[in-house]
Amino acid sequence: MKKFVTTLVLAGLAGSVMAQQALKPEEMIKYRKAGYNFMAWNMGKIKANLEGTYNKDQVVAAANVIAATANSGMGALFGPGTDKEVGGQTTRVKPEFFKEPDKVKELAMAYIKETNELQKVAATGDAAAVKVQFGKTGESCKACHDKFRKD
Ligand code: HEC
Repeated sequence: MKKFVTTLVLAGLAGSVMAQQALKPEEMIKYRKAGYNFMAWNMGKIKANLEGTYNKDQVVAAANVIAATANSGMGALFGPGTDKEVGGQTTRVKPEFFKEPDKVKELAMAYIKETNELQKVAATGDAAAVKVQFGKTGESCKACHDKFRKD
């Protein structure tokens, strides 16, 4: 029940209670890891643009994906039975994730805010401002990993 409530709280982060597909626990783990990896790939693209030749369109595309992923309600993929390996899907989520919903929500809201801002700043094409906001976004990822992801 507690986990179910956590799921609802996290799902609600997207702003509304959505209809949810019934997923198996192993599918939830698989999809959330895919979402995180896809975000990380796009963060890497922004980093490469900041360190090399800056291409505004590529940065905009990457920032859009990151913000959209952050706003997609990924909390719904931390349902019951996803706290440990299941169906061949390994997970690095810490048990605390399921016990401290308020802290999860706080960190998730902070990261949603930073990714939304990254999307906004990317649209201006101001590379220096993107660099600053990219740093803040990365810190918001790390803040959650430090607390809720195993090494
Ligand atoms: C609210 C907490 C939270 C935030 C914010 C967050 N992550 Fe994560 N991340 C996790 C957790 C928990 C896992 C472990 C998932 C698992 O193994 O089931 C994870 C796993 C990952 C992984 C490894 C996936 C794998 O295949 O094992 C990557 C890469 C990653 N996150 C990137 C990011 C990036 C990039 C951001 C920011 C743009 C971000 N994360 C923001 C909690 C968070």
